[in-house]
Amino acid sequence: MSSYEPPWKRTQRCGDARAEHIGQEVVLCGWVRKRRDHGGLIFVDLGDYSGTTQVVFVPEQAEAFATAEGLRSEYVVAVKGSVRQRPEGTVNRSLATGEIEVVAAAIQLLSEAETSPFLIQDDIDVNEELRLRHRFLDLRRPEMQKILRLRHKVYQAARSFLDNRGFCEVETPVLTKTTPEGARDFLVPSRLSQGMFYALPQSPQLFKQVLMCSGVDRYYQIVRCFRDEDFRANRQPEFTQIDIEMSFIDESDVSQIVEGLVVKVWKDAAGIDVSTPFIRMSYQDAMNRFGVDAPDMRFGLELRDVSELFRESSFNVFRKVVESGGVVKGLRFPGGAAMSRKETDDLEVFVKNYGAGGLAWIKWDGSEIKSPIAKFIDQGLAEELVARFELEDGDIAFLVGDRFSRACAALGALRVHLARQADMIDDSKLAFAWVDNFPLFEYDEEAKRFVAVHHPFTSPLMKDDADFALLKTDPAKLSARAYDLVLNGQEIAGGSIRIHSRNVQELVFKHLGIGEEEAKGKFGFLLDALSFGAPPHGGIAFGLDRMVMLLTGTDSIRDVIAFPKAHSGMDLMVGAPTMVDAQQLAELGVKLTSPAEKKA
Ligand code: AMO
Repeated sequence: MSSYEPPWKRTQRCGDARAEHIGQEVVLCGWVRKRRDHGGLIFVDLGDYSGTTQVVFVPEQAEAFATAEGLRSEYVVAVKGSVRQRPEGTVNRSLATGEIEVVAAAIQLLSEAETSPFLIQDDIDVNEELRLRHRFLDLRRPEMQKILRLRHKVYQAARSFLDNRGFCEVETPVLTKTTPEGARDFLVPSRLSQGMFYALPQSPQLFKQVLMCSGVDRYYQIVRCFRDEDFRANRQPEFTQIDIEMSFIDESDVSQIVEGLVVKVWKDAAGIDVSTPFIRMSYQDAMNRFGVDAPDMRFGLELRDVSELFRESSFNVFRKVVESGGVVKGLRFPGGAAMSRKETDDLEVFVKNYGAGGLAWIKWDGSEIKSPIAKFIDQGLAEELVARFELEDGDIAFLVGDRFSRACAALGALRVHLARQADMIDDSKLAFAWVDNFPLFEYDEEAKRFVAVHHPFTSPLMKDDADFALLKTDPAKLSARAYDLVLNGQEIAGGSIRIHSRNVQELVFKHLGIGEEEAKGKFGFLLDALSFGAPPHGGIAFGLDRMVMLLTGTDSIRDVIAFPKAHSGMDLMVGAPTMVDAQQLAELGVKLTSPAEKKA
């Protein structure tokens, strides 16, 4: 073929051919996935995102056959040929196109390919760095193509659902000012105003509230957010939200919209029927029962509080914890009495990673307990513990005595760890739950001041004048009108009803240590917007990437983002961030003090 010959027009995708096409002339274009030489015939699996079709090259078509002899994996070709029934015994039922094959009459070689650093197929066991460096090849793999398309369906489902309910999509700025969501900002130096910086938005929170004040009424945006925070399996420094805000509503309107949206997304993107309404529990309940504010409720192993049983006990460690305001909590693990000393020791190391001082355990054989703290547990206490944990013959109960938050963190993690180890988690289950009634503020020991549990624009829950008085005198006693949507132990959305009164907002800023001047400087525009007729409003934002993770069953957020950052924060394919040349820095008025300058 001359390299100037225009590529043939393809008639169908590689995954489309079926028995009904037998006898038709087709042009398929795609990548050579596999080539096999078989007794004078050459078989090529030609693939694209839609699937693969087997193409057969026969010696009678000498020119095509000669080209096929030189084909290697990932060459790009166009093949003209006719669809025929595969011969008896060669039908492949596991392949959508497995009943047919295309007999090639001619072939165009569109691109050659070097040897790929990994196989372009599913379930490869290669270093992720290599995959990210060659993301163009990684995304060519069928499982990644599937995720990209599922993600696309999520956008479409969300847009159509919200559009049908009167929501208006509005874009908000990317070059903006700090939006406090609890992480560090990414900053962009300004060339025109030297010494000044834009911040990339941690979320469009303030803009969506301003839009409510502007009368938009129902807003949404599928929007990129930027947070310079520590990496975790479900976090990226840039991620996507389905961001929603509504006027003249309360919590029930938000949950109705959100549940409808979840039903639509799961149905359209994955064909799964989700039943609503979702269960609802308070933050306190979630902490008490599961030790975390985003509980995985696909299995039991709930925590119990046994502090009172140890208040008078001879076990000094726990008694002192209780006397000093801490708690003794624990959980029952059925059948755990068979655990070896090594296994319980390993679990103790596990909980110590979560800050717990230790892990006590009690095994029950139906008549007596066995425990490293047995000598401190008299008959009465033993009976009460067995009763409180509902221990049955062969069970073990694990106990942690500590500050409430630490006991919860340790046992909450232990609960999930044990369930995973014992294979108690049914991956086909979807356990959605609303968690609400969060505290408004929490005390930050490091900063020695209150911080907002959701964000500073969240309305306190105030039912009467007494609550309003508390806002002035003891705001830590108030709950927030905030809610999270949790799925299988992950927070997939979070939101709140907002403050729409300037006075209340100013008071909250004051409690958070944001002085009048600072408030004006950082949030003056919001305070102004609240002063010129602000409707009561509230909303929520979904973490779209987390949603897609859960829809696809992957445990890495990087798998659901086309071009994610590696753990180091680097985009390994393009090689960002990079150093910039001195002239560019000078134009921006930026001088480096870090070692990077020396390297440059
Ligand atoms: P919040 O900070 O709770 O609320 O964020 C909403 C949702 O975004 C997802 N998320 C993330 N996903 C991936 N990587 C990250 N680094 C990351 N951080 C958050 C989570 C979370 O539930 N403006 C408020 C929303 C509101 O009040 O309406 C906000 O951003 O799934």
